[in-house]
Formats: sequence, C-alpha cells, structure tokens
Amino acid sequence: MHLQRRNRILRTTGAIRAMVAETTLSPADFIAPLFVDEGEEVAHEIPSMPGYYRYSLDRTVREVKELHALGIRSVLLFVKAADEVKDNTGKEAWNKDGLMQRTIRAIREAVPEMYVMTDVALDPYSEYGHDGIVKDGEIINDETVEALVKMSLSHAEAGAHMVAPSDMMDGRIGAIRKALEENNFTKVGIMSYSAKYASCFYGPFRDALDSAPGFGDKKTYQMDYANRREAIRETLLDVEEGADIVMVKPAMAYLDIIREVKNSVTVPVSAYHVSGEYAMIKAAAEKGWIDENKAILESLTSIKRAGADLIATYFAKEAAKLLRES
Ligand code: PBG
Repeated sequence: MHLQRRNRILRTTGAIRAMVAETTLSPADFIAPLFVDEGEEVAHEIPSMPGYYRYSLDRTVREVKELHALGIRSVLLFVKAADEVKDNTGKEAWNKDGLMQRTIRAIREAVPEMYVMTDVALDPYSEYGHDGIVKDGEIINDETVEALVKMSLSHAEAGAHMVAPSDMMDGRIGAIRKALEENNFTKVGIMSYSAKYASCFYGPFRDALDSAPGFGDKKTYQMDYANRREAIRETLLDVEEGADIVMVKPAMAYLDIIREVKNSVTVPVSAYHVSGEYAMIKAAAEKGWIDENKAILESLTSIKRAGADLIATYFAKEAAKLLRES
C-alpha cells in the first residue's frame, strides 16, 4: 500500500502521543469534596465509598494540608449535622459557631492558600432530608431562598472564598449575589450547581451525611435526566443572576450536557463526578474487574475533554498522586 495519510504515525511512541494530546489533567483542575464531622481524631469510612472518610475537624485540617502539598487548590466542604440540630428551618446552617463555620475558619487559618468552597443547601440540616423548607409535603421555594441567603452570608462571614448552592431552588443565585453585594462581600464567588439532575448516583453521598430524603424524592427541584435544553435554560439564567462558575452534575452519564453547557457560556464550567460514580469504580476494582488507576484517569480525562474546566471528584487526591507519578 502507498497511503497518502497514515493516522497511526501520531500514535507510534509515548513521546509523540504526549505531544499531540488534546486534553491534559492537572491537580489544579480538581476540587476535593470533604465530609466533616464533630469529634476529635475521627475517621469514619463511608461504607458505600471505600477509601473515603468523614473526618473530624482536626483530621480535616491535616487532610487539607496533604491535598495542598499535592497541588490541589480547592476544597468543597460538606458537614454532617447532628440529629439534635436538624429541624425544618435549617437555622443551624447559619449558626456562627456551627461545624461548617468552624471548619472554614480552621482551614483558612491553617492553609491560607487553599481556596475554600462551601455547600449551600439545607439537606444536612433538614429533619426531612430535603434541600429546602417543607410545608404541606412540598419543598417551598421562596422561604428556602431566604434561608440559603442567610447560610451563604454566614459562610462568607466565616471566610469562605466561594459558596456553592446545590439546592436547585429558583432565584437563589440572584438573591445570594444581591445579599453578598449588600453586605460588602465583593470578593466572594458563587459556583452554582446549575444543571443538577435528580440522580440515583447520589446514593453513597446521602449515606456519608445521613441526608437521604425522609419522604418522596427530589424530582420537584432537581432536573429530569431526560432533558438537555432545560440544562441550558437553567445555566444561562444562573449566569445572568451572577454565577461565577456553573456546574453540571453528575458527570459521566452527562458528558453531552457538559459539552453543550460549555458551548453556551463563557464562564468556567465545572462537573461533579459524584459519589455513585466513585463507588462504581471502587466496586469494580475491588472485584478485580477493572484497573482502578486507569479507570480514574480515563474518567477524569473524559470529563475534562467533554468541556469541564474544573472537576469536583472524590478521586482528587489519588489522581493528583497518579499525575505526579506519570
Ligand atoms: C445536596 C447535595 C447532594 C450532593 C451534593 N450536594 C445530594 C443530593 O442532592 O441529594 C451529591 C454529591 C455526590 O453524590 O457526590 N444538596
């Protein structure tokens, strides 16, 4: 054969493959989610997330130092609220001395360079395990937004760099932005979970925080996975309302959405590689059915290739180590 073009030439050696790679991962792409619990020296392994822990504050600070040493620039904080503080107002969420607020202050003090993002939604504090306030069996929008605003201000006050509303209520980005402006928090950002789907892949996360909905599901606020245009509508509105970063969640089953969002906005796009996606890789690897390290890098590269500028992933630490070795 005398071929004019042989596409395999650019795949012949590791050097040329690295030279022409279109997508490369870096630890700065990762946002490391952290689950924080009360107590001292607590490391509770999440049963459905082998190798992932809920740490007390002291251990969390140590973990943040390790992440920082590996080149990871940001953490996304979630706290497990004690049953006694859960109610239907979410008021513990803006307790000045609540676990979240103490955690923000401790991390800012111990590792000042770490960019601290915080989850904003009522589910860890809700006696019903819902992201908002419940009235007559419904999750009510506008009163919930008022609570989310108080929660965001409280995180900003404690030193959060960016709040990350994950609740999917209407109008919350605009309301939070307005409140941040009015209170002179002009450097605090908003990463909006703009296209967040009602997904079964959040199961292990709800184990981690003991936050599964007590009744019903989250389909009246999170999106229907059948929909694509709706993701664009949600995202464009959040950008208009002032989101600095938008997010698609989950990631692997939603790569088409990540790409479409990427093509529709000029703000950075993040994707949340969620707990169930972590669990699937871990479970298959435990059984010896896939190579865990390869699955991690292939998954994260695919999410970035789809259009994610940032990836929130429970594999952040492992991936940073793998990148260092490669
Ligand atoms: C709740 C919240 C959830 C996740 C992040 N914030 C769960 C839910 O919506 O029920 C899921 C994260 C994951 O599964 O890793 N506001």
